Amino acid sequence: MSRPKDPTKVLIFDTTLRDGEQSPGISLNASEKLEIAQQLARLGVDVIEAGFPIASPGDFEAVQTIAREVDGPIITGLSRTQTADIDAAYEAVKDSARPRIHTFISTSDIHIEHQLKTTREDVKGQARAAVAHARSLVEDVEFSPMDATRADIEFTAEVCQIAIDEGATTINIPDTVGYTMPHEFTAYLGQLLAFVPDLAEIVLSVHCHDDLGLAVANSFAGVLAGARQVECAINGIGERAGNASLEEIVMLLHTRSDDLNGLHCDVVTTELARSSRLVSRLTGYVVQPNKAIVGRNAFAHESGIHQDGVLKERTTYEIMDATTVGLEANSIVLGKHSGRHALQKALEDLGFQVSGQVLNQAFKRFKQVADKKKQVTAMDLEALVTDELRDEMGAYTLEWFDVEASSRRPPHAKVGVRTPDGQEVEGSFVGDGPIDAVFQAINAATQTDAKLREFRVEAVTGGQDALGEVSVVLELGGISASGQGMSTDIIEAAGRAYVRALSNAQRRVLSDEGDRQDGGDPLLSGTP
Ligand code: KIV
Ligand code: ZN
Repeated sequence: MSRPKDPTKVLIFDTTLRDGEQSPGISLNASEKLEIAQQLARLGVDVIEAGFPIASPGDFEAVQTIAREVDGPIITGLSRTQTADIDAAYEAVKDSARPRIHTFISTSDIHIEHQLKTTREDVKGQARAAVAHARSLVEDVEFSPMDATRADIEFTAEVCQIAIDEGATTINIPDTVGYTMPHEFTAYLGQLLAFVPDLAEIVLSVHCHDDLGLAVANSFAGVLAGARQVECAINGIGERAGNASLEEIVMLLHTRSDDLNGLHCDVVTTELARSSRLVSRLTGYVVQPNKAIVGRNAFAHESGIHQDGVLKERTTYEIMDATTVGLEANSIVLGKHSGRHALQKALEDLGFQVSGQVLNQAFKRFKQVADKKKQVTAMDLEALVTDELRDEMGAYTLEWFDVEASSRRPPHAKVGVRTPDGQEVEGSFVGDGPIDAVFQAINAATQTDAKLREFRVEAVTGGQDALGEVSVVLELGGISASGQGMSTDIIEAAGRAYVRALSNAQRRVLSDEGDRQDGGDPLLSGTP
């Protein structure tokens, strides 16, 4: 892939499933990753970085499944410069209609001396060999000089030139530790373009972290300096303080298009709010209420003066329309008498293609909710289907529970849990409160000693009969993992969330044990 024909088009490269997934406590399973990737395709991103295939068999499978099943965007996998990494990335993405390999190595002396423990000459050699090997496998290769903004620019330019000579089609400049400032980044990229004129012939990309809260500002400075790809993540999730937030970059280009000489991207803005809700729901990372674009209050007006102004004319205090980002009124879509066909149609309108057994299960769940809730809204359905789709093979599921709660006796819970190998096991416990009793009963049933670290409950929509969504983070064998559950009954939602977190933690404990037995590489547990 060479530079896109339209010089004003900014490619949106989403790294929610790679850099984003490396945020502490996030542990998405394969079906959750696929669901996010399908939503990213609906959102119209240009590139999905689906994971780091060499990191674990689970990562590999998730990238491969996404490459096979998600149409539209380019699908890429990250790799270091080692041949085995590149081969794993290739095997994982090769079945996509548009495969890309993304390979990286640091060019800063701090990383070269202290982390890689090597020399600049060796870095040049590794970059050359990696890009050449990747190009022998696929046409579309991205190269990143990691920690570029703290590196010697002339050396970084030399490495970028090598990568271009070997056939890299995108050069991505990462501000790995979120250190640069917008004016500095503009100058840096200007100088780099002067040192490497060939950069103008391929796609220049930027990847900024938010350690100083400048990720979006720096990415935007990059675009003004000539970058035509921005790497970003939904809700800005990512290592440490995160990556540039995709929704902020997109809405900046959209809202200020008149002043940007045609710079634009092709993201479907009306899918932004939904993408944000899905990622928040599946990762357990809450979106702060005042978060730009997708926060609950991003379009709310509290002050009387502002409310008065907006009632008279929306644009007095609003620069964007909530409907543009998909935060439209939560229309009622179904009632308790709606049938299977109406549910299937409503789900189709929301972008979910469900049939057969999944539709039957979704319908059963919908009826349970509709009986209690009477009016089921689009947001309820979205939460319900996500909840229903997420259970995968090899995970614990909560089959039933009984809780006796009283203010005069300690609460007692009994639970039935389906184990990953299909058996039903039971446990009981007298806890401090009904939810604690259920969690401890699940520990007893599964013979685990998980410790609850965080517990949060939120309503999907307003109203007394709202669906409740519970998110828990627990710790098992030194690993923390999150899980979410949804129901009209908070105790049931909590139990579902807990068994999912337990499944995620166990999957990670097992994968870490496997790595240790293979003499695994600790560097694989995360990239910046
Ligand atoms: O922050 C970074 O440098 C990265 C690279 C792997 C692109 O994530
Ligand atoms: Zn990064």
